[in-house]
Amino acid sequence: MNKLQHLLSLAEFTPAQFADLLALALKVKQQPANYSQALAGKSIALIFEKPSLRTRVSFDVGINKLGGHSVYLDQQNGAMGKRETVADFGRNLACWTDAIVARVFSQATLDELAATSNKPVINALSDRFHPCQALADLLALTERFTDLKKVHLAYVGDGNNVCHSLMLGAALSGIKMTVITPEGFLPAADVVTQAKQIALQTGASISLSQDLNSANGADAIYTDTWLSMGDKANPELIAKTFSPYQINQPLMQQLGVTYFMHCLPAHREHEVTSEVLDSQASLVLLQAENRMHAQNAVLISLFS
Ligand code: CP
Ligand code: NVA
Repeated sequence: MNKLQHLLSLAEFTPAQFADLLALALKVKQQPANYSQALAGKSIALIFEKPSLRTRVSFDVGINKLGGHSVYLDQQNGAMGKRETVADFGRNLACWTDAIVARVFSQATLDELAATSNKPVINALSDRFHPCQALADLLALTERFTDLKKVHLAYVGDGNNVCHSLMLGAALSGIKMTVITPEGFLPAADVVTQAKQIALQTGASISLSQDLNSANGADAIYTDTWLSMGDKANPELIAKTFSPYQINQPLMQQLGVTYFMHCLPAHREHEVTSEVLDSQASLVLLQAENRMHAQNAVLISLFS
């Protein structure tokens, strides 16, 4: 596969490159010893403008398992764009580190880091995208289904960063994806257009709906928080708008859905009931586990 430069959205991949990356992630998961020195001598900055459990730990532990070294930077290290400009922050980091992983409020911060730091930049979640999550999710689906092109994935909830990355990943993988959102919470129109354009190459289909019945017979139903980090909306209004879209056991049964997926953290009894989250149908811990393997495949691709 061609050398990866940055991972900012997922749109950097061709369908073939994306399939290669998922195949590499599976190999890294199955034969970790083969990759234990893949990042020997490399140092990677992990910048977090927002809280994280899975992303922080999976990058830190994953880099260690590849023989590399990570440097965690929270907001005590001088918030980017406040103590100094984003470009100055990135250029300084690039003096010592080999790549920058960043969780940021604004996608523009990642674009600026990528444009100015002269080092690979990986999006660890922004307002627009969560590509590392979608990679882990598609790895989980790869493990459960032999052919992604036959999978119907329904996303229910806010048309947010997680939804955007899943749409691009589904389009690259030839998946049939139905995005079901309440009125006014659609995914961004430009991301829908981009996903539909990619879908033309792979036979994927990306459709939008407000009707939960559009998830009928789906292989997996995916949801996320109704209110993302940094969203300023009124939580009571949000709960009222989204409560008809809660994923619960009667709904799973009515729709005949096989698997449940969530990027976590979950808000139990809000977007999903504990009964579904903790059920046999739930893939959430497989998704969480796969964060590390998928990200390690990305890191290996950056330096191979
Ligand atoms: N799914 C995910 O990104 O989790 P964290 O916010 O805990 O990193
Ligand atoms: N959409 C959520 C995902 C958290 C992993 C958020 O941005 O807060």
